[in-house]
Amino acid sequence: MNVVVAVDGTSGSGKSSTCRAVAARLGLRYLDTGAQYRALTWWMLDRGVDVHDAAAVAERAGEPVLVSGTDPLAPTITVDGRDVSVEIRSDEVNAAVSPVSAVPEVRTRLVELQRELIGAGGIVVEGRDIGSVVWPQAELKVYLTADPAARAARRALENGGADVAATQESLLARDKIDSGRAVAPLTMADGAVHVDSTELTLDEVVDVVVGMVMERV
Ligand code: DC
Repeated sequence: MNVVVAVDGTSGSGKSSTCRAVAARLGLRYLDTGAQYRALTWWMLDRGVDVHDAAAVAERAGEPVLVSGTDPLAPTITVDGRDVSVEIRSDEVNAAVSPVSAVPEVRTRLVELQRELIGAGGIVVEGRDIGSVVWPQAELKVYLTADPAARAARRALENGGADVAATQESLLARDKIDSGRAVAPLTMADGAVHVDSTELTLDEVVDVVVGMVMERV
């Protein structure tokens, strides 16, 4: 199937689990663009770049070589050949990824990479600006949200029982920067379908999205 499904939404709304399951069920590839922003952020921290200095981040945004593996059952991300799947979920990266993602040169670089991957066809892509900026022509655009408390509880569980209140605070801080930034802020794209996952199980959300894809192809 040569369809592009764009899924945008807030941190912890269930985008990753939903997208991977939808892609696996439909035999599509899967791209986690958040992992790319995280990997670039990890590299900046590793090189000692001040992530709050936009000019410094911009200057080095072109240096690292990022490669995303798009198998929904085993997605991978490497920076200069090193697998950083675990490192990109650290508290340090969580705290630094929103300011790095707000730098225009970072976005230009990653959007180009994303368009190359998407262009090969048949993919479910998750992020913040996929339906609005990266691939507005997607056959299906979903805007996935959930109440902050539900999102924090899920993310804390994923992170091996982390503190729910602290997790919620960190999610809300990222939402605020992601929605308020000048370039490609998180927003519901034209033509997107809003799905609120607060009261739904993962399987139910997956059924809803798969159903919408099938209606469109
Ligand atoms: O989906 P995530 O929580 O892994 O994303 C991490 C950060 O990356 C998020 O705070 C904002 C940024 N991001 C972005 O700016 N644009 C995207 N398309 C995807 C993620």
